[in-house]
Amino acid sequence: MEKTFHITTFGCQMNEHDSEIMAGMLSDIGYTEKENRDDAKVLIINTCSVRENADKRFFGTLGQLKRRKEREPDLIVCVSGCMMQQKQITDTINEKYPWVDIIFGTNNIHRLPHLIHDLIASRQEGGEEKKEREVWDEAGAIVEGLPAKRLYRSKALVNIMYGCNNFCTYCIVPYTRGRERSRDPEEILKEVCRLAQDGVKEIMFLGQNVNSYAGENCSFAELIKRAAAVDGIERIRFMTSHPKDISDELIDTFRTCDKLCNNIHLPVQAGSDRILKRMNRKYTRAQYLERIRKLREAAPGITISTDIIVGFPGETEEDFADTLSLVEEVGYDSAFTFLYSKRNETPAADYAEQVPEDVKHERFGRLVDLVNRISAEKNKAYEGRTVKVLVEGASKNKKTALSGRTEGFKLVNFDAPEGIDPQEMEGKTVDVKITRGKTFSLEGELEK
Ligand code: 5AD
Ligand code: SF4
Repeated sequence: MEKTFHITTFGCQMNEHDSEIMAGMLSDIGYTEKENRDDAKVLIINTCSVRENADKRFFGTLGQLKRRKEREPDLIVCVSGCMMQQKQITDTINEKYPWVDIIFGTNNIHRLPHLIHDLIASRQEGGEEKKEREVWDEAGAIVEGLPAKRLYRSKALVNIMYGCNNFCTYCIVPYTRGRERSRDPEEILKEVCRLAQDGVKEIMFLGQNVNSYAGENCSFAELIKRAAAVDGIERIRFMTSHPKDISDELIDTFRTCDKLCNNIHLPVQAGSDRILKRMNRKYTRAQYLERIRKLREAAPGITISTDIIVGFPGETEEDFADTLSLVEEVGYDSAFTFLYSKRNETPAADYAEQVPEDVKHERFGRLVDLVNRISAEKNKAYEGRTVKVLVEGASKNKKTALSGRTEGFKLVNFDAPEGIDPQEMEGKTVDVKITRGKTFSLEGELEK
């Protein structure tokens, strides 16, 4: 069988990074990554259980693969990720999609090369092929030293902790990713040093709730400062922060650490205290706004993004109006908006007073209009300003253009200087004069 693979990734940055690690491990054992799924022999679907309709999309994808698997029995179809941590999902696969070759979960991605090896060995032995099913309910010790094949040359995702202890009533993550575990700070710093030596300029620390990072004798703020001392690293970001856990020490780090980007993703979820309480978020609207005020005081010009859920069970028009007014009051640079949807096992799925679909959609439309209006205004204010952009590579839309991000995480597209190969510019920080601020990105010209 040809040693080629393709990974389809659903969901958040944690999943994206897990996919980078899978790609790294497979490359290390001689497999080549293919851009198109149709050209690869080992197919991995890395699933998410947070996003809406995740299971419909996942089973839809499996349905598409069935015919190909019939035509090419030597294909290796693997499924992984958060959804596999739910027993009813793996039961369904075993019952309705028994031809799936390998199932593994979020706690044992390091086992992928072994599982592929065992499957191929069982094929070579003849007789009945042994399908591999290996999902660990509990997280084992954190496995260090796994390779990662990064999506970008100049920036890298770095896990600092796994799991979540918060049990927001709508959220499945504590059930699929387990309790909080922090990586050893020395291991994290070793990884950051290796990345810097490899030419990485920007790192993003990842965790479901990075603010409750508890490394040995090392707070999260301390970790940022230690990473900032690594030569070659120019920018540090993190995600995601829980508003209840943002410490004054961390806020102060925005003031004192130049390499920490003036940018934060701070999910608010709702603007009404009643709903926040039902969501078990453990902060009030006033406490959230106070954190924002302190952040802006410590880091003037900081860009702020958020996550918002519309139509949580029991949300009245008045509660929703509180969300709208909070969005207006904070003035988010951008916001990810979600329609509430039930997740098995979570408390909110059993709440009475589920909001009717049409009401949810109508509110969602109003929220998106407001969020986009504010984003566009914020971006318009950049017109005429010169900003520093870390170049990520060729722009998605236009071959001759480059794209990159500002410190505030704004996407900037600009024309490459004539005669210069866009690849040569990757990882460089350049000055760009913004000529146009759009809703989701900025356009500009390279300063001479
Ligand atoms: N319904 C809608 N949105 C959800 N999120 C998490 N669980 C749900 C759910 N059941 C959203 C939250 C979270 C983001 C990653 O996904 O806003 O911050
Ligand atoms: Fe889910 Fe809440 Fe944990 Fe975030 S903090 S992962 S929303 S339970």
